[in-house]
Amino acid sequence: MSQSESKEPELMQKIVSLCKRRGFVFQSSEIYGGLRSAYDYGPMGVELKRNLMNEWWSAMVHTREDIVGLESSIIMHPQVWQSSGHLANFKDPLVDCLVCQERFRADKAPRREPGAPAPIELSDKGRAKLAQEKLAQAGHEGLTRDGKTLQGAVAGDRGYVCPNCGSPFLSPERDFSGMFRSNLGPVDPIKGVIDAVKRGVSEGADDKALRALAEDVLAKSAVYLRPETAQGMFVQFLNVQQSQSMKVPFGIAQMGKSFRNEITVEHFIFRSCEFEQMEMEYFCAPGEGPKYLEYWKDQRLSWWQSIGLTPERLRFRPHGPDELAHYSDGCFDIEYEFPWGWDELEGIASRTDYDLNAHAKGSGKKLHYFDAEAIDPETGKPGRHYVPHVVEPAAGATRGVLAVLCDAYAEEFDEQGQLSRVVLRLHPRLAPYKVAVLPLVKKDEQLVQRGREIVTRFAEAGIAARYDEQHTIGKRYARHDEIGTPYCLTVDAQTLEDGTVTIRYRDDRRQERIRVEDAVDVVNEALRQGRR
Ligand code: GAP
Repeated sequence: MSQSESKEPELMQKIVSLCKRRGFVFQSSEIYGGLRSAYDYGPMGVELKRNLMNEWWSAMVHTREDIVGLESSIIMHPQVWQSSGHLANFKDPLVDCLVCQERFRADKAPRREPGAPAPIELSDKGRAKLAQEKLAQAGHEGLTRDGKTLQGAVAGDRGYVCPNCGSPFLSPERDFSGMFRSNLGPVDPIKGVIDAVKRGVSEGADDKALRALAEDVLAKSAVYLRPETAQGMFVQFLNVQQSQSMKVPFGIAQMGKSFRNEITVEHFIFRSCEFEQMEMEYFCAPGEGPKYLEYWKDQRLSWWQSIGLTPERLRFRPHGPDELAHYSDGCFDIEYEFPWGWDELEGIASRTDYDLNAHAKGSGKKLHYFDAEAIDPETGKPGRHYVPHVVEPAAGATRGVLAVLCDAYAEEFDEQGQLSRVVLRLHPRLAPYKVAVLPLVKKDEQLVQRGREIVTRFAEAGIAARYDEQHTIGKRYARHDEIGTPYCLTVDAQTLEDGTVTIRYRDDRRQERIRVEDAVDVVNEALRQGRR
């Protein structure tokens, strides 16, 4: 789809274009036409994503005594998903539009009162004519054409219409599992499926029964790519608690890939099938869930603000009772105002003792905590065994990258109203490069040598610095503005005379002369203060 045909708001189109131009995010397998909903993080994107995730890890694990980390496997014992309820519940109602063939989730479709007008909007008059004829053949006569819109249809009893064209003419709903299934081991399950189906056919089994026979064979070696990182933390609860002598309340944090076979992938990296999460399970005593839900709401909102997101573009949205996940008794989303509107960035849920109980039941292992100091409410004596309750802040890392990019993207105009520059006002700690070192003239060997020495100083101090001599100084500033480099150090003739360089701050372009000797300290202090 060309950019002018894209359904994304103009601002999103600009951000997507900058991401490709400057090496943040590329379409996966682009030279083969791209893979739907999969993305690769380029040289700038991988730095930005890692910086964001490191900030989260630092806030959640390194700066707290009550939280420890974990990295569990992506493929887990299939029983994990049976016990957690994912195999039974991680399903979406899938529907096809009979007019435009859009495939979508019924629960996310635009609502219309049954009987309310449902105008169908096609992309052009020709398609509208064809759709009108097709619908008439299917018995839906009496629709009139008004340019590319068909009038006269009304919403059905289901109370929703196609999100693409508005049509109420839809296929029946069917369950669609969001879990990616594979098979573990060297045995080819297809052979077993063929044999089972042949047997079923010979016994006169109908389609439903044949499907069940095939599923039975596949289930024997089935494994799943995890749809959330959370379950790894529940099933390792005891190992972590006992090996680290953690006392409740305590948390286990994990960052990493999750996979969901999303029906609708949308808004660039906002919703994709392979993505990264940053989740933390906070285990607390029964009855303390509501207290820690409030606590983690505050903590997490402040964190998003601390990495630079505009406070006015962040808000909480409580989940209604009909929206709550099967394990949750209270949940708030932190929403961000993306270019297309408010949408979820992180969920903070009270998961009760559902998960530990479910895994205790499924595995036959006790997942209890013993608090030697607490009084047992039943006996009135010291020492209490209980199943901890859990509050979970679950954030999207890749979605976080998009929010950060949207928030940071800015265009500046000159007095004539012409675009003068595009700048990514990233928080300096998130910026892919903290410093660019720019010799004014690349043919001057002394400047080049001095520049490279400065880069080495930064590398030794653990600060990401980039030596850059390509193109004019103006173009280099523009390039670094677009990738969000907060500080540019220019090495010029004066550097050779008095050992100073110019530091240029990205956001207001102000320039100061500083001593080369002080450059690392100046940048370190600016990073600490978030100056840019
Ligand atoms: N363990 C709870 C859990 O996974 P969730 O609300 O389904 O809760 C948490 O996911 C976060 O993961 C979301 O707020 C979102 O930021 C991110 N996320 C979920 N599905 C995603 C997808 N398909 N693509 C990108 N990010 C996604």
